[in-house]
Amino acid sequence: MRKNIVAGNWKMNNDLAQTQTLITALKAQEQTSNAEVMVAPTFTNLYSAYETLKETNIEVVAQNMHFAENGAYTGEISASMLKSIGINTVILGHSERREYFNETDELLAKKVDAALAKGIRVIFCFGEELADRKSGNEETVVGNQIKNALFHLPAASFQNIVLAYEPVWAIGTGETASPDQAQDMHAYIRKTLADKYGNDVAETISILYGGSVKPANAEEIFSKPDVDGGLIGGASLKAEDFFAIVNAF
Ligand code: G3P
Repeated sequence: MRKNIVAGNWKMNNDLAQTQTLITALKAQEQTSNAEVMVAPTFTNLYSAYETLKETNIEVVAQNMHFAENGAYTGEISASMLKSIGINTVILGHSERREYFNETDELLAKKVDAALAKGIRVIFCFGEELADRKSGNEETVVGNQIKNALFHLPAASFQNIVLAYEPVWAIGTGETASPDQAQDMHAYIRKTLADKYGNDVAETISILYGGSVKPANAEEIFSKPDVDGGLIGGASLKAEDFFAIVNAF
């Protein structure tokens, strides 16, 4: 059974006080949907957010991690360190990390392996650039991102993976993929998984859409048969907007 999931990617926003203020507002919101709810604060606020939310239905997740267990990687965080503070889900492959930190499919495959090895669920992000879509190459680009980073895994690994399709041209731009564009790509992704691993994997994995999801467009996007929720950026920084999206099923 596929889960509906709404995850808030806070990116590099909110200091400790602002994190606690937002969490207090989130705790006051009413959830009327069956969605799994997650928020991803920055590393400096992960533990305080975890401690504040651990008795609620809101899971605290990490925005990134390194593939190594430990060592000379200044500024990095390992899977074990995340587990040690109660974090059991991590976002990997976000387009901003691919762009600004040169994260390749091959590096992401190592990060995915390291997370799964520690029992950490992975929200794996991917998506095409505007030029890819304009040239009609969006499926090839997305297919390669998924195959290069995930198709070395056994089928069982996908029980601990959530996919997040985020067309780069829709992230933070206010330019949202149309519900039909999202559905078409999600259906392609699900078929790509089915061709490799069979329907059990393809029909049980949650595929989220990310890229300018707002309270005004969430319901139509989430109504599509192969869309299982969203990975939310800007709108996750306002408690009311975020829960309007959480409840948009
Ligand atoms: O990871 C989610 C993010 O990339 C989407 O950002 O601001 O377009 O919702 P936004």
